[in-house]
Amino acid sequence: MTPASTRSSITPAARLRGRLTLPADKSIAHRALIFGALSGGPTMVTIRSPGLDVLSTLGCLRAVGVSIEQSGERYLLSGRPSRDAVVDCGNSGTTMRLLAGAVAGLPLTVTFDGDASLRARPMERVASILRAAGVEVTTTDGHGPMTVVGRDPLMPVRHVLPVASAQLLGAAVLAGMSAQGETTVEAPGPTRDHTERMLAHLGVPIHRDGRVTTVTGPARPLPFDMEVPGDPSAASAWLVAAALHADADLTMVAVGLNPTRLALVGLLQRMGVEIATRVSEVSGAEPVGDITVRGGRALRAVNISGGEVAQLIDELPLIAIAMASVGDTSEVRDAGELRVKETDRIAATVAGLAAIGAEVEPLPDGWRVRRGTSQSARIATHGDHRIAIAFAVAAVAGVASAVEIDDPDCVAVSYPGFWEDLAAVSG
Ligand code: S3P
Repeated sequence: MTPASTRSSITPAARLRGRLTLPADKSIAHRALIFGALSGGPTMVTIRSPGLDVLSTLGCLRAVGVSIEQSGERYLLSGRPSRDAVVDCGNSGTTMRLLAGAVAGLPLTVTFDGDASLRARPMERVASILRAAGVEVTTTDGHGPMTVVGRDPLMPVRHVLPVASAQLLGAAVLAGMSAQGETTVEAPGPTRDHTERMLAHLGVPIHRDGRVTTVTGPARPLPFDMEVPGDPSAASAWLVAAALHADADLTMVAVGLNPTRLALVGLLQRMGVEIATRVSEVSGAEPVGDITVRGGRALRAVNISGGEVAQLIDELPLIAIAMASVGDTSEVRDAGELRVKETDRIAATVAGLAAIGAEVEPLPDGWRVRRGTSQSARIATHGDHRIAIAFAVAAVAGVASAVEIDDPDCVAVSYPGFWEDLAAVSG
């Protein structure tokens, strides 16, 4: 970043160098807090630099009566959800969907609400999963606010998910833990497997076999002590920034290296990038280690579709930036789920790419893109953290000649220290 760059106005960096410790993985942190609450405690969860989404889960758990004492990065949970409440999930779809599953098997009435973005996201999918297990759920025209009237016990069900979603799978499993017998969840494609790994580690009879997850209830996780690893989705920003830069060498330390979260590493390697991962420890049931990436290679175009999409879902705006650095055309298909994320990420990504001068064509379920001119632009994030980070990376790596981010603070949803880390690696 040149000295002229600020957090909302970013220009290409002369070089990218350094070692970064990232915020705790959002997906694992949500689950650790929710499983800890269901365990009854005492459970200790260490969460480095939690984003606003993780703080939303903490706030919701407190609102339903779980005691959470904070000491620095350590959160001590005790007591199970025990109070009716109206809870604020903020911007976090994972909070709303997983917690709905968690309270479904408890004799509580909980109303889940959130910000304007979350109120626009589909909740009927999770509602129908819980209804099938015998829970009374009402949504507001298919959206939040959503009220769950829990009961114990629930019915064991064989669910077939309409989309490959780890959030829906997690909600079905959490409800299944309050059913008498086997609940099975079949997903149309592979998803991140934190729910299965962590619950199995905590003594819950659960396993995944191909696309089918089975949990046998009634079951309750054991209390535990866990340090949440660094977020591989936060690492993705630096993987792409370094991959596209002529003079870059970055290492991310203590990152979660669960294979279901590393599809971006494989994809960038397919594009010709030099990346190495090294597992050094296991935290709970999650592998943890370092990732090193070097720039300076010419990249190849790539196409993404089918089952690969769910494993790259949060990385697709960044992948679009990588694609826009290549002269040949790349394509993303089967990614219609992006339209119901924090904003319509197909529309926001395509608009941003066009603004920075890429040759881009929107598709109903993705985009086609190749390198164009490198222009400066103001990026409309629509309050979406992943859009802000992707286009900051575009500028740092020189895919845009400069960008101004309309709402730089929105990165705090997943990565509160993003701008400081950007300043650190770009000197
Ligand atoms: C998440 C799953 C993904 C992802 C989200 C976190 C999770 O959503 O986009 O950021 O922790 O389960 P879907 O599984 O609904 O696609």
